[in-house]
Amino acid sequence: MKQDSPSRSDRLQAVFDYHQATKHRFEAFAPGPGFLDWATQPDPFRRYAGARLIPLETVAPTDEPRFDDIFTAGHMPAAVPLTLRTISQLFYDSLALSAWKSTGAARWALRVNASSGNLHPTEGYLLCGPIEGLCEQPMVCHYAAQEHALEVRAGFDRARWDSLCSGFPAHTFFIGLTSIHWREAWKYGQRAYRYCMHDAGHALGALSIAAAGLGWQARLLDAPGTDELARLLGTLQAHDAEPEEPDMLIACVPAPAVDPLPELPAAVLQSFESLDWQGQPNRLSPSHLDWGIEAFAAHVRKPHGACQYEPFAEPPQSWSPPPRAVALRRMIRQRRSAVAMDAETRLSRAVFYRMLDRTLAVPGAVPFSTLPWSSQLHLALMVHRVDDVPPGLYLLVRDPVQTVALEQVLTQADPWHKPPGCPPQLPLYCLMERDTRGAARQISCQQDIASDGCFSLAMLAGFDDPLQRYGPWFYPRLYWEAGMIGQLLYLEAEAAGIRSTGIGCFFDDPMHEVLGLTDRRFQDIYHFTVGGAVEDERLSTSPAYE
Ligand SMILES: Cc1cc2nc3c(=O)[nH]c(=O)nc-3n(C[C@H](O)[C@H](O)[C@H](O)COP(=O)(O)O)c2cc1C
Repeated sequence: MKQDSPSRSDRLQAVFDYHQATKHRFEAFAPGPGFLDWATQPDPFRRYAGARLIPLETVAPTDEPRFDDIFTAGHMPAAVPLTLRTISQLFYDSLALSAWKSTGAARWALRVNASSGNLHPTEGYLLCGPIEGLCEQPMVCHYAAQEHALEVRAGFDRARWDSLCSGFPAHTFFIGLTSIHWREAWKYGQRAYRYCMHDAGHALGALSIAAAGLGWQARLLDAPGTDELARLLGTLQAHDAEPEEPDMLIACVPAPAVDPLPELPAAVLQSFESLDWQGQPNRLSPSHLDWGIEAFAAHVRKPHGACQYEPFAEPPQSWSPPPRAVALRRMIRQRRSAVAMDAETRLSRAVFYRMLDRTLAVPGAVPFSTLPWSSQLHLALMVHRVDDVPPGLYLLVRDPVQTVALEQVLTQADPWHKPPGCPPQLPLYCLMERDTRGAARQISCQQDIASDGCFSLAMLAGFDDPLQRYGPWFYPRLYWEAGMIGQLLYLEAEAAGIRSTGIGCFFDDPMHEVLGLTDRRFQDIYHFTVGGAVEDERLSTSPAYE
């Protein structure tokens, strides 16, 4: 008997239930394995055995473009032509390995895009027409990060390509991202879906920034449904390896201005299912525990259709601080998480404000120009060591229209005031002057990195309202925006000569209590810390690719 598919309200309820059930509490962590079962540790690299492999080039970092230029409208580099070399560079600067680390017999790879627990659930795909030096026929490829190579999953005819991207600017190509939830679930259990979506957001941020370095624009195409993405990327085929859930499709346009882009025709998307898909995915673990994540992911699949997102009523503005002599691609490839902070390094007020300014979705500015929705996230900052800014709890309102709503719900705040020297355009407010080091540490699962840096922060997402308005499928999108902010802050910290770390382990409701949040209008969905790192001298580093 055919089962009725769950209604929108059932699926929305499933989102609220999942979010509630996967909160870490002082009394108990969200359900998870509680130990690491090394016998089932997932292989970090997916490969499609039997698929033809096309090596990409490794393109060493250059001094140009400057880091600050790509974030400033009017300073973006000119678009370079689409070739094997430039597509290689796009992957090299976004999803590639950045180094190998080792200690004793243990050896593991780091990547340009950060990932919770370094487990890397995100897989990348290229969908392109003919590219000089790379291919003469359109194709769908899986990106093999360890080899820095493309695995050709399917080739297809020119007519299909032309109808797929009819109306798009010349030389547009597409990048797909999928998640293998098991990689994170192996370590983190039920909460892992959140981490997968943070990681997808980090990858999206990395792609957007890498594209900008080439003078290209990246745009999330939000009209296709999840099922259509599965057909397009070839993840529908039956196999006994861990499933890949399609997350998103990004149009990369090797041109400076692109908006608005057309929709991909639904009939052409459907037709990809019948391609001759090559290669068998490898099994990442011999056995698995089911944490209910695939079942949950089904509730947040997006149906087909473009969403009419509300534009910014009051778009944020940048005060455009002067550019520094810092090379973008060096920052991208040297980005690392701090494993410990020194509890000493201080940040100047000017650099602090500059970092926060960068996280605003100023119209046309990378990376948030990649997202079709206006900012849903605000930053609750715990300032510990910033010169001439008193320690305390601060709020960066990333969409000024939300100011009144936030003032109402953050009931623990003292009267809001602008901190000293804060540029008038920066919507930053002091909520209370206090030593927040103890609270930051305790709430971030007792991790010292949250209190020993210059500042740490909680990302507060508008929750009830966007989920009710757009639908359950907006839940992962909140995390993508959070991950993008995280990837950007990682690079900002590098550019400032310090380090940072994403923090997925935090006690959700205790953070809400600090702020005085008592309902679901806003929820804390990601933490982050920025400060002076202490290097782990026991680890050796070797190049990503020999
Ligand atoms: C979503 C997310 C959550 C993370 N949570 C934590 C955390 O709670 N504690 C921590 O020490 N590091 C955390 N990290 C840092 C990762 O462990 C780190 O990114 C990973 O080991 C890869 O190292 P790399 O960032 O140097 O490439 C997190 C990273 C991400 C992206």
